[in-house]
Amino acid sequence: MKILAIESSCDEFSISIIDDGKILSNIISSQIEQHVNFGGVVPELAARLHLENISWVIKAALESSNTKIEEIDYVAYTEKPGLIGSLIIGKLVAETIASYIDKPLMPLHHIEGHIYGASIENEFIYPVLAMVVSGGHTQIEIINSPNDFKIIGATLDDAIGECYDKVARVMGLGYPGGPKIDKLAKEGNKDAFVFPIPKNDESYDFSYSGLKTAVINIIHNLTQKGETIPVADVAASFQYTATKIIEKKLEKAINEFKPKTLTVAGGVSANSEIRNIVLSLGEKYNISNTFVPKMEYCTDNAAMIAKLAYEKLKISN
Ligand code: KG4
Ligand code: ZN
Repeated sequence: MKILAIESSCDEFSISIIDDGKILSNIISSQIEQHVNFGGVVPELAARLHLENISWVIKAALESSNTKIEEIDYVAYTEKPGLIGSLIIGKLVAETIASYIDKPLMPLHHIEGHIYGASIENEFIYPVLAMVVSGGHTQIEIINSPNDFKIIGATLDDAIGECYDKVARVMGLGYPGGPKIDKLAKEGNKDAFVFPIPKNDESYDFSYSGLKTAVINIIHNLTQKGETIPVADVAASFQYTATKIIEKKLEKAINEFKPKTLTVAGGVSANSEIRNIVLSLGEKYNISNTFVPKMEYCTDNAAMIAKLAYEKLKISN
């Protein structure tokens, strides 16, 4: 059974082909370079650039997997959430291919896709506890099957990735800021600055706007005094606090829900400290099926959508 999957929710246009659960191709056209000068993704530009990338991405995905379009059994695509212009393009491409080969369409959820991206190289044993960390979401989910996702805590204001990107922008590090802060943090002293950890301890919801404001205030104060910003120290202290928030909630959720699989998903799962936290919590609580996704499957990609489609079809047959 071959599935062609499309992911186009933000600034990546990606097509993947999966055959009986095995990823045959995962072509990603990224637009990071075109958005760098604007300090973030420009929605209108993202949709226009997707249009330029459709043909070659389809061709590359089919050729590199040695697949003819007629061999495809299902066409999956990211239906939501995301930038509306970008999403519409993915949907139109999916509908066009599906009607041409007369095969069923599968509209899927981007975040559920991110979670199954973590299962491409490792099998899920249910229930799964997934920490979702991306540009638009910070949430904890319990997954009992590919059709059963329960959100136990979600984003109250800024998502963690958004917070990384905004702090990086104020520090003059450019876009996307997450990987840059992560790298810089390794050279700094995490105790140089003390940033606040939100007190909403009873809930699993996440708030990052207080941390964002605290870091931005420090940078502005130092700039006003004419002092040089110790960027590595700010990065290290910020990363320590941003990830401590994740660690605290995740540990509480592990104790309450006792999962058989522990994992992390979304663009920010590429973060070195978050990866360490998840692996060490897995070890501390003896969850042998604990894993972090391969880097290629952290940021937006169609393989994760293909894997979700495959797992859904597997249980429906
Ligand atoms: O999942 P994703 O590709 O897009 C959304 O669905 O939002 O996530 C993108 C986010 C960006 O905010 C980017 O800065 C962040 O992931 N990111 C990181 C790292 N790599 C990517 N954040 C922190 N540390 C990283 N190493
Ligand atoms: Zn994403």
